[in-house]
Amino acid sequence: MDVQTVDKILDKFPDTTGNLIAILHEVQNHFNYLPEAELRYIAKKIDIPITQIYSIVHFYNRFTLSPKGKHEISICLGTACHVKGAGKILDELKEKLEINPGDTTEDMNFSLEVVRCIGACSLAPAVVIDEDTYGDLTPKKLTKTLSKYK
Ligand code: FES
Repeated sequence: MDVQTVDKILDKFPDTTGNLIAILHEVQNHFNYLPEAELRYIAKKIDIPITQIYSIVHFYNRFTLSPKGKHEISICLGTACHVKGAGKILDELKEKLEINPGDTTEDMNFSLEVVRCIGACSLAPAVVIDEDTYGDLTPKKLTKTLSKYK
């Protein structure tokens, strides 16, 4: 467990209970997920039940309790993308990465998640990798796109 890092984060917030979400956000930014040992340490240190932390973590879907890959792929299965063949792109992603949505590749390079509309319907089918949006995807274009992230 990385006590020093957690202590540094907690020190930034004099009102720890009132800033619990911001604290969790910083912890996740540092570790790329919310490690259980660190969450238990925070609960003990600020004297709140661990269940209070878990209820926040489960409420906000931006928080994750499992390690994420270096690159996060969000594939859109919203209506426009679905109609334009997002299912095939998802199948291709699953086959190439050998993971299902919600999982991370063994080499920790990619995490995959399904989302509903990323506001790029005119580019359907579309995926977001980290901060970049890729549209009009075909399985061939997807392969080329993924190779940028190896
Ligand atoms: S439905 Fe996929 S971007 Fe809108």
